[in-house]
Amino acid sequence: MKILVTGGAGFIGSNFIRYWTNKYPDDKIVNLDALTYAGNLENLKDIENNKNYEFIKGDIRDADLVNDLVKDVDLIIHFAAESHVDRSIQNSEDFIKTNVLGTRVLLDAAKNNGNIRFHHISTDEVFGALGLDDEPFNEDTPYDPRSPYSASKAASDHLARAYFHTHKLPITISNCTNNYGPFQFPEKLIPLFITNLIEGEKVPVYGKGENIRDWIYVDDHNAGVDAIIKKGRIGETYCLGGENEITNLEITKKILNLMGMGEEMIEYVKDRPGHDFRYAMDITKAKNELGWRPKIKFEEGLKKTVEWYKNNKDWWRGIKSGSYLEYYKKQYGRN
Ligand code: NAD
Ligand code: DAU
Repeated sequence: MKILVTGGAGFIGSNFIRYWTNKYPDDKIVNLDALTYAGNLENLKDIENNKNYEFIKGDIRDADLVNDLVKDVDLIIHFAAESHVDRSIQNSEDFIKTNVLGTRVLLDAAKNNGNIRFHHISTDEVFGALGLDDEPFNEDTPYDPRSPYSASKAASDHLARAYFHTHKLPITISNCTNNYGPFQFPEKLIPLFITNLIEGEKVPVYGKGENIRDWIYVDDHNAGVDAIIKKGRIGETYCLGGENEITNLEITKKILNLMGMGEEMIEYVKDRPGHDFRYAMDITKAKNELGWRPKIKFEEGLKKTVEWYKNNKDWWRGIKSGSYLEYYKKQYGRN
């Protein structure tokens, strides 16, 4: 089988390529990635010489390139996106361009080249925000995106479904909760906090740290995508999650504990505008239909992740400097 993976130089995509090449070494993978600030070929150093792997630097909105690349592929797995909520609050332009228009280009290419099997990677954020007493999201939850990021992902999900209904394009969609693990860009909560602490800097908790997310180790997410590719029903959506709801403050304390540091390292900063209070996922459908479930316990995954950032300082020190910190200070008014 030959697979076009988009966004394979990013966090989840690079872990996916590593997962897939280990499990299915005879499959061929073409990785199409524009290498934005979040894309990094260092994430795939161990794979770059694999004879069944090829990297193409390019934009998913480049229709000529995409049409050329899909000609002989059996499957497209679409990870490429602008992925950081805070950046979408500051400027949503690239989110619309990549997440909406880019997805359209890929769907058209799949349609125009023999209706290629298409798996679309999406997020729980399309469902909106939950209160403490609400039932978790599931596949029937109405869409209610509330940030420019989640609105752009919701639009791309709707497009993928529209191509299934209108053009019979064989799509599946997964909506997953917060991922963590190695190679995550140090702007997201867990890698930002770990790397700040390694540098002796405080960690910026938004508001009171009461917001709740459901965290899943990245390999568990990718095993879920694998299960959908192999066993999922065409046209269906599958909700994936870690069954691991936790407040931001609780995570912060766990990280501090693993790093041997105290709560004086916490800095409460102004809240994210429109900050969704709680995400949680009911993963019954994926469990029952796919036989998939998350395997890695949060304590174990977080410990592995802390160790990885401690042992790979060269990987994150370069990308965490300069313009990124300026952006961050502007957003949150930190000194
Ligand atoms: P990431 O930001 O780490 O990586 C995104 C990758 O896409 C980068 O390599 C980047 O260079 C590439 N890219 C961006 N724009 C592109 C374009 N126009 N053309 C080609 N490549 C482009 O993101 P991630 O956290 O790995 O997320 C991957 C996917 O998973 C996204 O679709 C995201 O919405 C979804 N998702 C993420 C999470 C999470 O917790 N991180 C959870 C659920 C779903
Ligand atoms: O739920 C899935 C989504 O998870 C993905 O679709 C997104 O691509 C991914 O970025 C992530 O979105 P979040 O906004 O939930 O992740 P983030 O790591 O940015 O923030 C997690 C929580 O931590 C959130 O409640 C905001 C808070 N936070 C975040 C940062 C960066 C802080 O308190 N301080 C911070 O510095």
